This record gives sequence, structure tokens and C-alpha cells, in this order.
Amino acid sequence: MTAPTFQPLAEYREYPPDEMARRAAAFLADARRRRTVRDFADRPVPRAVIEDCLRAAGTAPSGANQQPWHFVVVGSPAVKRRIRAAAEAEEAEFYGGRASDEWLAALEPLGTSAHKPFLEIAPYLIVVFAESYGVAPDGHRIKHYYVSESVGIATGMLITALHHAGLVALTHTPSPMGFLNTLLNRPPNERAFLILVVGYPAIEARVPAITRKPLGAIATFVE
Ligand SMILES: Cc1cc2nc3c(=O)[nH]c(=O)nc-3n(C[C@H](O)[C@H](O)[C@H](O)COP(=O)(O)O)c2cc1C
Repeated sequence: MTAPTFQPLAEYREYPPDEMARRAAAFLADARRRRTVRDFADRPVPRAVIEDCLRAAGTAPSGANQQPWHFVVVGSPAVKRRIRAAAEAEEAEFYGGRASDEWLAALEPLGTSAHKPFLEIAPYLIVVFAESYGVAPDGHRIKHYYVSESVGIATGMLITALHHAGLVALTHTPSPMGFLNTLLNRPPNERAFLILVVGYPAIEARVPAITRKPLGAIATFVE
């Protein structure tokens, strides 16, 4: 057992109500501009920006503070090519019969297909891994708690940080994703969670015209 140590909440800031409202509205306006983009420019992105966005993701809350995530940032054209080839092979099977008709119908309005050129064109692929369990220095397994919830929150923060920095991202989930462990030499306690394709949008990029549910449909207040 380790005794807890405590420190003052030195970095918390409270804002006066009007400033709080302004900040919340400004964040909402910015969040509303975020879109998943599937057409990328091949322009390079500063690595330092990606590093800061990953640091922001690393501030996410996690079950028992186990921080059960690992981000593999792939900029190598050769490795991106291998990921594209493997992902397209999986996706060809997915669209060619493995996916249920219901799933394919849900994807139809997005116009997605097994063709994934963005996996090579975008400057960075951030492959998010979830650590299903930890490994102590002596090799014994450490149980991890709420892994998917924690990694999902960290990934959301990463997507928001990338958007805030002026980049776009595509959340990509080739199914299944086991090939990423092999291609990226990740250990057996990690499972691929998703790929974030990151960069600038292509000049001619277009996005599906979708709507977002209004507040009344996504929230219930009990007062
Ligand atoms: C967990 C998850 C998996 C997704 N997988 C894919 C994918 O494999 N391919 C794809 O083109 N988009 C994928 N998306 C993107 C969604 O289609 C997109 O977020 C949704 O249509 C809403 O559009 P928006 O992000 O522009 O608001 C995924 C999103 C999430 C959250």
C-alpha cells in the first residue's frame, strides 16, 4: 500500500459568471466547426504541434490514474503504405460481406468505401493503443480498470486539441485492427483502439452534410 500525498489545487481558475458564459459559448462555436475529413493535403505538419496535442491527451482522467494509452505517431511513408495495404485488405472484406446490411446502411450517408488513400497522403497517422493490462518491472501483470472509457476520453481530448490547433482528423477503425500490433511491433498487453489520420484538409475536401442532435435530444436535466 502507498500512502497518498496531497497538494493544493494551485492551477484551478474560477471565472466570473459572464466570463464563464462567454468561454463556454466560444468553445461551443469552435467545437461546432470540427468535422471529420477524409480528403487530406500531403503538406507536412509541425511535429511539435502533434507532440503538444499528445501531451494534452495525456492529461485525460483515467481509471485509477493508470493512463492506459499509448500513441504511435507514424510519419514514415513506408510504414503508412503498409498500414494502408493491410487496412484496405480488411476493409475490402468488411464492405464485401463481413459487415451486416444494417451496418452498411448506417454508413451509406457518409459515402465511405474500402478505398483508403488518406492513410498514405496524410502526414501523420496516430495509432491509439489501449493497454489492456500493465506489466510491472518484474514482469507480473497489473490489472487495469475502465480501459476503454479512459482511452476514449483521451482520444476525444486529442481530437479536440488537434482541431484547436487548426488541423483536421479522421477517426478510422479498420475492422479488425490486429494487424497494427504486428506492423508497429506493439507488445501483447496493448490492443489497437483506432487510427487518427491527421493533417490539413485537401483544398477540394468535401464533407457529408450531416446534422447534430439538439440539446433536448442528448441531455436530460433532473432539477
Ligand atoms: C469510434 C469511431 C469510429 C469511426 N470510424 C470511422 C471509419 O472507420 N471510417 C470513417 O470514414 N469514419 C469513421 N468515423 C467518423 C464518423 O463517421 C464521423 O465522426 C461521423 O460521421 C460524424 O461526423 P463528424 O465527425 O464530421 O461530426 C468514426 C468515428 C468514431 C467516433
